[in-house]
Amino acid sequence: MVRANGEFRHLIRCKFLTPELIAKIFAETDLMLRILNFREDQEIQDYRTRVREEFQRKGVIIASDFYEESLRTRWSHEAAAHRLGAEVISTENAAKFSSMAKGESLEHAIRVISGAGNPTCRYADLIVMRHFEEDAAKYAMKVSAVPIINAGDGPGEHPTQALLDVYTIIQRFGHIDGLVIAMMGDLLKSRTIHSDIYLLARYGIKLYLLSDPRLRIKDDLRQFLVRHNVWFREMTDPQAFQDIAGEIDVLNVTRIQKNRFKMDDPDEAQLFRELRETYIVTRDYADRMKPNAIIMHPMPIESTSEFQPEVLPEVDSHEKAWYFKQAGYGVPIRMALIKMLLENWGFIERIEFEKAS
Ligand code: NCD
Repeated sequence: MVRANGEFRHLIRCKFLTPELIAKIFAETDLMLRILNFREDQEIQDYRTRVREEFQRKGVIIASDFYEESLRTRWSHEAAAHRLGAEVISTENAAKFSSMAKGESLEHAIRVISGAGNPTCRYADLIVMRHFEEDAAKYAMKVSAVPIINAGDGPGEHPTQALLDVYTIIQRFGHIDGLVIAMMGDLLKSRTIHSDIYLLARYGIKLYLLSDPRLRIKDDLRQFLVRHNVWFREMTDPQAFQDIAGEIDVLNVTRIQKNRFKMDDPDEAQLFRELRETYIVTRDYADRMKPNAIIMHPMPIESTSEFQPEVLPEVDSHEKAWYFKQAGYGVPIRMALIKMLLENWGFIERIEFEKAS
């Protein structure tokens, strides 16, 4: 996935990203953020024009191929593509509306979209893919003739989300080293948590992992944390969550992944109900956090009438609630990834920002 010279050809997992590449992606994201704010200065306005002209000259098409539901991830990728000047082809439910419903294999679909058998006539120059099976993006990558961005593979990974999560933390604190980060909810099946841990393990953080004993992280993640000498503590007692409120800088909440439970199995449905209300973030909790602390959530926050949301609506207007801001950073992160991958494949010219001296 990453070449010897540090270029990456696809984005499939955070596990294999190097600190150098992460830094490069964030530097590019800073630029993309300026592009989004282009009215501010003439230099960036000129750069934005050059980027958009290059995308249009090459007629770049991005395919948004989603086999599982999504709002933020799909639309922020599509918005990112449009902001860069690319065209987008899209299906909101490839599992239902594509030929997969007729039994077509993912491999065949990817070969066709990426033009593996007919590159000149390829449908798209980059595929953003979400799938309900773990490792689906890895299999797609093996047969694809264009870059693949994994937008979530079942309970596996969600690398673009983790990049935007870490970017959000840097926007708030200016650094990651030295921060106390707490992750809570469904640590077993939340792909965002898995990718977050793989990324954050590269920094000097203190990590609390709060979950029901049945939703603890998988062993390979635990080993990864140990190998990277990360200070971490797994906590399964809800009282522990209350006790550490005043210590944490970043609280990263995730939803219990209802869609990964077999809800028609009475035992699993019962288990889901038991797990559902273990941890709830209230306004009072937010008040008790450090003055600069932030509450993050990849969203959606589950708000059905049956259970309390894991973050109560009363928190939404709290200054420490950063999940709306966080969702916004999905656009510049995904602009950076699309641009860098297309450059690495030679599908567009490398467009450098030259500062006037
Ligand atoms: C997450 C996902 O799909 O994994 N959502 C997202 O992409 N922002 C989190 C979730 O569904 O709980």
